[in-house]
Amino acid sequence: MEILKIREHAELADKAAEWFHSKWNIPLEAYRESISECLNGESAVPQWYTAVVDCEIAGGLGVIENDFHERKDLTPNVCAVYVEKEYRCKGIAGELLNYACEDMKSLGIDTLYLVTGHTSFYERYGWEFLCPVHCDGENEPSRMYILRPRG
Ligand SMILES: CC(C)(COP(=O)(O)OP(=O)(O)OC[C@H]1O[C@@H](n2cnc3c(N)ncnc32)[C@H](O)[C@@H]1OP(=O)(O)O)[C@@H](O)C(=O)NCCC(=O)NCCS
Repeated sequence: MEILKIREHAELADKAAEWFHSKWNIPLEAYRESISECLNGESAVPQWYTAVVDCEIAGGLGVIENDFHERKDLTPNVCAVYVEKEYRCKGIAGELLNYACEDMKSLGIDTLYLVTGHTSFYERYGWEFLCPVHCDGENEPSRMYILRPRG
């Protein structure tokens, strides 16, 4: 398994956009635009990462300004964390999270946020519950997590 930064692998851009779109209820064009912005390299955000096994995408995540919630001040956000079922429980999500966090640190961003419904997953990788947050179009609040700067 290899984790690849999409900004260094433009050849993966279309495949990655389609893969993320197949996992999440977000239009394909939104992923295409964000990945294209990442490839332009004009700013640290957005970024996209994939875990690749035998030339296929086994997992991935992105870092975007705002993952469709009201707290625009809590930015940037890890988003679209997903690992294919047959590759789960092998630590791939953890490796993706740690890799993205280190890469963002190298780009000058040392605090990250994410919104989730999970209640005990992100803790294992050093994230802390911060506060409830309302996501666009949802009645029930989601959970905002923070990854604070590490030593
Ligand atoms: C959540 C998800 C990304 C985890 O990916 P993964 O590569 O299997 O995660 P890791 O291998 O790093 O960690 C697996 C561990 O987390 C645990 N875990 C998985 N989902 C969990 C959850 N919802 N709550 C608590 N623990 C969870 C597993 O039991 C396993 O524990 P173990 O090592 O003690 O057996 C994957 O299950 C997935 O893609 N789910 C569907 C999409 C999703 O929910 N994404 C998160 C959106 S915020």
